[in-house]
Amino acid sequence: MSQSPTRDDFDRYMVPNYSPQRTIPVRGEGSRLWDQDGREYIDFAGGIAVNALGHCHPALVSALKAQADTLWHLSNVYTNEPALALAKSLVERTFADKAYFCSSGGEANEAAFKLARRWAYDNVGAHKDKIVSFRQSFHGRTLFTVSVGGQPKYSEGFGPIPGRIEHAVYNDLDSVRALIDDETCAVVVEPMQGEGGVVPADPDFLSGLRMLCDEHQALLVFDEVQSGVGRSGHLYAYMHYGVTPDILTSAKALGGGFPVGAMLTTDRVAPSLAVGTHGSTYGGNPLACAVALAAVETIDTAEVLEGVMHRHALFKEHLEAINREYGIFKEVRGLGLLLGAEMAPAYEGRAKEILPLAMEEGLMALVAGPNVLRMAPSLVISEAEVREGMARLERAVARLVQDA
Ligand SMILES: Cc1ncc(COP(=O)(O)O)c(C=O)c1O
Repeated sequence: MSQSPTRDDFDRYMVPNYSPQRTIPVRGEGSRLWDQDGREYIDFAGGIAVNALGHCHPALVSALKAQADTLWHLSNVYTNEPALALAKSLVERTFADKAYFCSSGGEANEAAFKLARRWAYDNVGAHKDKIVSFRQSFHGRTLFTVSVGGQPKYSEGFGPIPGRIEHAVYNDLDSVRALIDDETCAVVVEPMQGEGGVVPADPDFLSGLRMLCDEHQALLVFDEVQSGVGRSGHLYAYMHYGVTPDILTSAKALGGGFPVGAMLTTDRVAPSLAVGTHGSTYGGNPLACAVALAAVETIDTAEVLEGVMHRHALFKEHLEAINREYGIFKEVRGLGLLLGAEMAPAYEGRAKEILPLAMEEGLMALVAGPNVLRMAPSLVISEAEVREGMARLERAVARLVQDA
């Protein structure tokens, strides 16, 4: 009889680039998960902003099952109905005229950065290749995306890295003015930095970036891999700010747990990814696109998006109540259902210590860097689950404070 895999098998058989928790979840339903021993957890982590409709949402399960019985894969030698339906749906719902599909956020950004350079090359010349990005930003783990990302630890030791990439200070327009010039092909920004500590952009900052890009004929690229698909309370966070990019990347919640990524752009820019310039075997895979279409159609409704705003208020209320009692946070911030609680000076750098305590209390949460406790729950988590999850978080916080 074969035995269930254990956490020790991770250390034995897998490359050591992750350090997962000891517990192995085996089943999920909505905002609850169960581990190998049948222990139940409330999920405030949402697979790092992926499970936007919780676990095994009926609309996604039924789209996946129907597609699984119909057609799995064709490659891009042929197109397919789910990919065309998803492209049409995203174009009709956003600023975009065209979509490109891939399998992850990193790949969507890789396509975006290549498109920006190629567009400048086609329309101005090879010298217009500079990319301006931001410190603390995160755009993925390919060599190009870690180089555009503003956290040097992720590219350290992997050089030589791609050149002509400069990093300004997030929410500081003057620092962008100092770097941008007519050789800049793109400014790349997350409308809300996720991995960098859950920091929403100031509205004036994003509109200022739009103006600077127009002044210098550069493309504005919004990385909405974490902020997109309902998380901000709008389908995409650019809609919250009223600032329209030239290229937008999406992944994570787009597939609700099925791997899929998309790059959206306009008819002005798209022609530079002409036949043969870029591609991916799995891009537009029918299973992925069928699930993503169901996710987008389910999420982009007044009921779900207004529910995100309501739940945001509920999360904030609870976090602030915990803080009044324990004084553990300096600030609670975020948009919609991407929330960050920055640790108070007395607990500087200790956000991560909350996670195992929370697991013991039956709650899954996240951090964003050493100093921010992060939550990215399902957009349709019930009020009762928020309340129960917060009671568990409070017990974990009390234990941290007690041990301090
Ligand atoms: C803003 C942002 N961009 C890109 C990525 C990379 O996405 P993936 O891990 O799917 O490649 C992430 C992942 O955390 C992200 O938060």
